[in-house]
Amino acid sequence: MIVENQLQLTDFALDVMKRTPDPRLREITTSLIKHLHAFVRETRLTEREFQDGCALIAELGQRTNDLHNEVVLMAGSLGVSSLVCLLNNGDNGNTETNQNLLGPFWRLNSPRMKNGESINPKGTPGTAMFVKARFVDTAGKPIEGAEVDIWQADDDGFYENQLDREYDMNLRGKFTTDANGEISFRSIMPLGYPIPTEGPVGRLLKAQGRHPYRPAHLHFLAHKPGFKTLISQVYDNADPRIETDAQFGVTRALVGEFKRHSDKAPAADVTGEWVSLDYAFRLEPGESRLPRPPIK
Ligand SMILES: [Fe+2]
Repeated sequence: MIVENQLQLTDFALDVMKRTPDPRLREITTSLIKHLHAFVRETRLTEREFQDGCALIAELGQRTNDLHNEVVLMAGSLGVSSLVCLLNNGDNGNTETNQNLLGPFWRLNSPRMKNGESINPKGTPGTAMFVKARFVDTAGKPIEGAEVDIWQADDDGFYENQLDREYDMNLRGKFTTDANGEISFRSIMPLGYPIPTEGPVGRLLKAQGRHPYRPAHLHFLAHKPGFKTLISQVYDNADPRIETDAQFGVTRALVGEFKRHSDKAPAADVTGEWVSLDYAFRLEPGESRLPRPPIK
């Protein structure tokens, strides 16, 4: 086809996409052309803006390496990661879900621990926190024998992999649910932290007047054959940024009640304020595949 005007160009491109043999790839590319072309028309994208946009996308790749993924960071900052999660879970987006973003810091082989143990053996200072989490199936029945990974930031907002080697694997643990489908552990209250802002994502947030912070949260990954692997985060209801997460990760179902106490703590060595969290997760049936660890 010889194109005569801008409208014909879209029809031409759509015709080409429609010849894609694989049906799913055909569906995705056809829809992509429709929406991309409509976006260019709607915004009346200039040549300069198009060149800048291409350079920005290239930079997302250039800044991505084994320890950092700027592409995923951008997807999160535009709300796309959360949308994909919400559409693919909770009965395909029809009901509430405990699924959430994996984030950049899950590691394989967290230290195995017994229920009740502390995930802070290296003694990082912070407000003592006692966590109880329950895992049930869609009928509400407790799931026994699920493996649950926990990982979190410390009182300064840093994960162990961002600190000196002496903190290796601290504030991480792998627990197994008991007959009541429960795990319990002791830790310290995490602090919210900023996402990396050295690249295009940081420039975008700055240009939009957005802060780069995520509200304080705990990461969970629960795994048992027969259930879709649960990837989740539970967010601190008292965090001042609970409604303005830079990654759009906070959903109503994942706001946890991190209760502040000043009475006697469940452990004799705790003086002053302490925190407790009780939270229940619902797992859906499905494939118990582990994600690819973002870091080693
Ligand atoms: Fe995190």
